[in-house]
Amino acid sequence: MAFLIPAHAGRPGDDLIFALNAEAKARAAAGESIVNGTLGALMDDAGRLAVLPSVAQTLREIPAEVAAGYAPISGTAAFQRAVIADLLGGRDEAAQAIAVATPGGSGALRLALGNFLEPGQTLLTTSLYWGPYKTLADEAERKLATFRMFDERGRLDVVDFETKLSALVESEGRALVFLNSPCHNPTGYSFDDAEWDAVAAAVARVADRGRGPVTILLDVAYARYAATDLSQAIDRVIHLAKKALVLFAWSASKSFTEYGLRVGALVAVVPDAAERKQIESAFSYSCRGTWSNCNAAGMAAIAKILDDGKLKAQVDGERMELKAVLDRRVACWNEHAGKAGLKYPRYTGGFFTTVFCDDATGAAAKLRADGLFVVPQSGALRVALCSVAERDIPRLVEGIARHTR
Ligand SMILES: Cc1ncc(COP(=O)(O)O)c(C=O)c1O
Repeated sequence: MAFLIPAHAGRPGDDLIFALNAEAKARAAAGESIVNGTLGALMDDAGRLAVLPSVAQTLREIPAEVAAGYAPISGTAAFQRAVIADLLGGRDEAAQAIAVATPGGSGALRLALGNFLEPGQTLLTTSLYWGPYKTLADEAERKLATFRMFDERGRLDVVDFETKLSALVESEGRALVFLNSPCHNPTGYSFDDAEWDAVAAAVARVADRGRGPVTILLDVAYARYAATDLSQAIDRVIHLAKKALVLFAWSASKSFTEYGLRVGALVAVVPDAAERKQIESAFSYSCRGTWSNCNAAGMAAIAKILDDGKLKAQVDGERMELKAVLDRRVACWNEHAGKAGLKYPRYTGGFFTTVFCDDATGAAAKLRADGLFVVPQSGALRVALCSVAERDIPRLVEGIARHTR
């Protein structure tokens, strides 16, 4: 008897990254010298999960009755205000923005898929992308299409982006785009000012043709580990809100090193008040119909940190120390990988980088045999420097160079 609906039969239950991580940990526990560059969580150089002490302390201080109670479906007003201020600061657009609490950035992506594409329609993103984009689209019964991420010069291929975006609006009557920058997962690429300007100009041209609504979602999960402040990118795209719907998938997972807390938000900038109300209600309805409401203690703690100047400064300081550890790894990687002639995109900060190679699966298997764990993707190896100690980077680079020639 087949109980599962046919469309869900044969779905892979195990995640490749978690499976590789489990093997790396088991072999390290058995005494082998292992470099584990698989998991997207920031580890210190001793291999322990890095935690911001003031965030952990704030969480411990949340009153039991706040933590135990249901949070409002769309999140508390304090949390919503704090997230909007965190993203948009004092800009005029902050007054036109709405935020809804979601379980991590993943929840925000799920809400966007469900509300800005019809079932069966197609999400557009970069050709290299975080695998769960496809899982989220599948689960929401939406499709995924890509544009070529890098042109011949190794820069964002905005020409292909505009071509694919325009074609989607023509064929489906609307479009939703996920753009993950800064510190793109898996490549580590951060769009520069000229690339953001070109993206904004392309979206504006497609929107101006009036063939259908265009929604652009900026997935800023890694924003706080970038070489430049997120507000620089926001300044270059926020004017699009006059022509397109601008969304942000905001997440506390990386920025507050609270991956398990499941605190995130979807933020929409909607100049028209009536439309804003409609979108706000639709978000709330979707929340009720998926996860109901989010982690009350987590939301209270993150709202408190964002709202309390002194506490925020303390958390920012602790994060700067972690970022400095990561930045040293990035510099070490660039020095050694550059010398070894590895092919990888511009990498100025963030949790990951990606080395291009023809047989990624074969190279990853050989590296694994040497105790070096990275994640094979189509035509590339993802290296999670967030979990690799600086002292192990030369060995990792040497292994990758040897097995990708
Ligand atoms: C590109 C990207 N977007 C969003 C997320 C959201 O993560 P979470 O749901 O844990 O906040 C992640 C986490 O790994 C990510 O890599």
